[in-house]
Amino acid sequence: MPLFDVYPLYNVTPVSAKDVHVYDDAGTEYLDLYGGHAVISIGHAHPNYVQAVTKQVEALGFYSNAVQNPLQVQLADKIEALSGCKDYELFLCNSGAEANENALKLASFKTGKSRVIAFKNGFHGRTSAAVAATDNKNIIAPINAQQQVTILELNDIEGVKTELEKGDVCAVIVEFIQGVGGLDQGTAEFFEQVDVLCKANNTYFIADEVQSGYGRSGKFFAFQYYKVTPEVISIAKGMGNGFPIGGILIHPSIEAKYGMLGTTFGGNHLACAAGLSVLNTIEDEKLIDNVNAISEYFISIAKTIPQIKNIKGKGLMIGLEFDFEVGDLRKKLIYDEHIFTGGASNKKLLRILPPLTIKKEHVDQFFEALKRSLT
Ligand SMILES: Cc1ncc(COP(=O)(O)O)c(C=O)c1O
Repeated sequence: MPLFDVYPLYNVTPVSAKDVHVYDDAGTEYLDLYGGHAVISIGHAHPNYVQAVTKQVEALGFYSNAVQNPLQVQLADKIEALSGCKDYELFLCNSGAEANENALKLASFKTGKSRVIAFKNGFHGRTSAAVAATDNKNIIAPINAQQQVTILELNDIEGVKTELEKGDVCAVIVEFIQGVGGLDQGTAEFFEQVDVLCKANNTYFIADEVQSGYGRSGKFFAFQYYKVTPEVISIAKGMGNGFPIGGILIHPSIEAKYGMLGTTFGGNHLACAAGLSVLNTIEDEKLIDNVNAISEYFISIAKTIPQIKNIKGKGLMIGLEFDFEVGDLRKKLIYDEHIFTGGASNKKLLRILPPLTIKKEHVDQFFEALKRSLT
């Protein structure tokens, strides 16, 4: 049976990986500055992760959400401790889209409204409401298009005010650092005013931290660079270091009701064990400090490369903007230099999303390779 052909593929077949390196079926070593799309947080095959998942699958891989699962409680407590999001509550699911779908659904249930405000170049996933809030007509099917979504420019505070005052908006959803779109960010003033407007208009402020969360931005969450209090925070990607897990953190003012949200696989034992090992490792290895140190080092070198016209993002969520499209450069980096990087909807932007364990020597290797590829 052929695979449904929806992905244009690079001709590389990874078969194993360790920390920041991936190895293909011919034994070639690749430096991973892509992290499988910002997923690998504590490094490939981290011993804590391997041990936690192995031990858990031997004991109990899965049982349903109809019984007690103390691992979910441990995970919730650990997220609270590391993120500083005091008293938020946790609902677990399996992916980023599902996290945003649940966030939007919760906002709609609780406010009794249905329109969503989202932003230009935003990406929130491929499920019904999440894809409708995504600024890409090519991936919105007619069945999704019936959702009521208004897309505004980032920083258009007057637009947000006008729309919220119409009284029918359940949620404003935002990436504090845009991922797929190309690492653009709103201003502090904008985000903080949106927060105030949401509170004044019975609208939920949803922070989509699916890509920027879990330390990647240099703080536990990217929204923590600003004075805002999101009603809902969506998480996934780095949360499981490759094990599929997602979730939403829900503000303590929002009351749960039986049956309001639910899932079969979300929060299963294996996913929680993976998730706990990620948080323990982020804490024990002080990975957020490493993110900040390496980010500074990376950016200081990027500034010396004349072909780089603009450096975007924060922490280890970095965009290098050139004045040409980078498709061929990415191919050169993969096939000639054996380095994975990411692209974005902005075709001139190279996205750098390495494991949070990356060291200076890997940054040096990348810039040597980049200089060779640019000549
Ligand atoms: C900001 C953001 N939100 C949501 C998603 C969707 O996540 P998933 O692919 O796990 O459904 C992504 C994926 O790239 C993302 O970057």
